[in-house]
Amino acid sequence: MQTFTKDLAHHVGETITIKGWLYNKRSSGPIIFLELRDGSGWVQAVAVKDKVSAEIWKNVEAVTQESSVIVTGLVSNHPKKENIFEIQLTDFAVIQLAHDYPIAKKDHGPDFLMENRHLWLRSKNQWAILRMRDAIITAINEYLHSEQFIKVDAPIFTPNACEGTSTLFAVPYFDLGSAYLSQSGQLYIEAAIASVGRCYDFGPVFRAEKSKTKRHLTEFWMMDAEAAFVEHDQNLAIQEGLVRHIVRHCLAHCQEELTILERDVEKLKKADAPFTRYTYDQAIEKLHELGSDIKHGEDLGNDDEGLLTKDSLVPVFIEKWPKEIKPFYMKLDITDPRRALNDDLIATDGGGELIGGSQREENVDILVERIKKEGLNQADYEWYLDLRRYGAVPHSGFGIGLERAVRWITGVEHIRECIPFPRTIGRLKP
Ligand code: 4AD
Ligand code: MG
Repeated sequence: MQTFTKDLAHHVGETITIKGWLYNKRSSGPIIFLELRDGSGWVQAVAVKDKVSAEIWKNVEAVTQESSVIVTGLVSNHPKKENIFEIQLTDFAVIQLAHDYPIAKKDHGPDFLMENRHLWLRSKNQWAILRMRDAIITAINEYLHSEQFIKVDAPIFTPNACEGTSTLFAVPYFDLGSAYLSQSGQLYIEAAIASVGRCYDFGPVFRAEKSKTKRHLTEFWMMDAEAAFVEHDQNLAIQEGLVRHIVRHCLAHCQEELTILERDVEKLKKADAPFTRYTYDQAIEKLHELGSDIKHGEDLGNDDEGLLTKDSLVPVFIEKWPKEIKPFYMKLDITDPRRALNDDLIATDGGGELIGGSQREENVDILVERIKKEGLNQADYEWYLDLRRYGAVPHSGFGIGLERAVRWITGVEHIRECIPFPRTIGRLKP
């Protein structure tokens, strides 16, 4: 039988078996403390020389970091810490003895750790990040289903661009020329809303981003949500509801992980309150007051996003951007057609842009004009234009970058730690 460390509270006083890996070992004369990881969590097993056989003692003495092991013993409360349990070791077996595990306790540089990403994943912080990434995915699925969205998967090989042609990855595709790796499934789930009303996709997307920043990956996971009969204001309300649900879910389910990562949870708790909302024009004005030299009509850089949110306890929406710097599919504001009915959601604590969203243009003539203006090939978008020819409805949607959300919630500085195997311009391995 295998017991998981996360369930030890229910096994105090019982003899149980844990299967996992040796994370760390300390000894104090005739006592050896084994810190074990079993995937679900961490536990210390205590081996006392005169309470085990000579053979078991010899194996405990010989066991090395990251060896795979099976430990049997009696579960007891930690002598000093509440809600922490220990195992008084009675039996011990090594499945495989690891030699010279390359990641030692000393500090390694990021390049070394990235080269050894396949092993680095076992360290405590990476364990906590992987678990929180999973919790965030769960929270997203939970919230969307509670709001009547269902999951509809979008393709990854696509014939045309969704988010501008400058960041497309082309792949040779048999006799059909080039396929492009999807930048966002948005256009496809726009088609699916006429079938199911509200839906979302959630999967890897690709951007040939030249940006070498702490927030850019070339392959990342995006959740695109799309809803029929939802207009701009309601689109923002859904985004806010989603992000606040993610925060609440992680606070409720990831206490241990947040502690390991030393995330300031008080700050996270405060983010669960009504979000601030600026128009692009207001944001530029505010940035000028704060000393930025951004020009009206420019996209916000990292520094601007940081400056704008530095005193904010809650994420900030920037809505109604100049249409020139936003994609063709965004609906324009009828009260000011120079502006798109869109938003970027900027996180607190230097989290940067979490979400990009908009109401979509449903008028076929305006869309055709915008496709032409952007120099896109109309023929590639005929299927998308059909959605406006047959039962067009007002609709809106948005995309959240999973790793951006993980980075913000965990407080980890670099996005490369927010995905199991990161892909950036300079990294394709392991
Ligand atoms: O703002 P973006 O480009 O929006 C879209 O792709 C829309 N089609 C989404 C939609 O309306 N359905 O990307 C959405 C989010 C960004 O806000 C950011 O969180 C993330 O995707 N993102 C990246 N994350 C990591 N690395 C990159 N290179 C990213 N580019 C965008
Ligand atoms: Mg964006």
